[in-house]
Amino acid sequence: MTIQKQGSLVCVGTGMRMAGQLTPIAQSYIESFDVVVAAVPNIFTHKWLQGVAKEYICLNSYYEDMKIDGKNRRDTYRRMADTILSEMRSGKRVCAAFYGHPGIFACISHMAIADARAEGYQAHMEPGISALDCLVADLGIDPGTYGMQSMESTQFMIYHRTIDTTALLILWQPGIAGELALKKLETNEEYLQILVNKLARSYSLDHEVILYEAATDPLEKTRIDKIRLGDLPRMKLKQITTLVIPPAKTLERDQSIIDELNAIAAQRGQVQQAA
Ligand SMILES: C[S@@+](CC[C@H](N)C(=O)[O-])C[C@H]1O[C@@H](n2cnc3c(N)ncnc32)[C@H](O)[C@@H]1O
Repeated sequence: MTIQKQGSLVCVGTGMRMAGQLTPIAQSYIESFDVVVAAVPNIFTHKWLQGVAKEYICLNSYYEDMKIDGKNRRDTYRRMADTILSEMRSGKRVCAAFYGHPGIFACISHMAIADARAEGYQAHMEPGISALDCLVADLGIDPGTYGMQSMESTQFMIYHRTIDTTALLILWQPGIAGELALKKLETNEEYLQILVNKLARSYSLDHEVILYEAATDPLEKTRIDKIRLGDLPRMKLKQITTLVIPPAKTLERDQSIIDELNAIAAQRGQVQQAA
């Protein structure tokens, strides 16, 4: 007989905007679990969590660890996951809260859930409203129209990636593009120029791209700056900036596949028109 260990973990997202983007299920875990362990930058969300949680542990100061010699962002994330896990191992029901969706470009939740399960604890994730969800709504872009590629900016830079210029490309974290040491939360003009040079293998420097920053509270204004790709290195980017690259080429039909599909339809006695 397996004995279920005491202590459990749920990872929830608080959404991008405090008002209205918290799901009812995330709210109920936040209010009812023994402890909320959170890494949320928005001051209003932070204050609200502190007010409603039975016990509250804020992880924001852990980012300071990156300044210590020999430590980088990965160590910070590991320490955050370890704090979540040690609360759970002490027998508590832990709700780990992150802004946006807790599992989108958010490795801490994935690490903590995998480790908790490997140790025999119950652990799961509840989805939240991510930056991508806000982007789709604010920019009026449907990822289904031309298809969508989504990747981290530095990963795009340092690995060979095949870009489909007939689809949308979303680059996350351009504000820390090229920062290989994982110690700073910023980029610079030279690194951004390298990003642009790589993108210029697939896109013209005149291609229009969008710098997107969703407003995270009622006092902020959403940033939707349409710029030339070639001008990117001189733009001010923040940690929250997302780079949106609309398609540069139109979709081309794959006639051989259309013919195969029509041949099958004809064999079945159906009449089919190519889309
Ligand atoms: C570590 S990821 C966290 C993503 C978050 N978990 C989510 O669900 O959206 C940080 C990146 O998300 C994007 N991001 C975060 N906040 C944003 C905002 N307010 N507007 C646009 N993009 C944002 C940016 O690309 C940023 O570099």
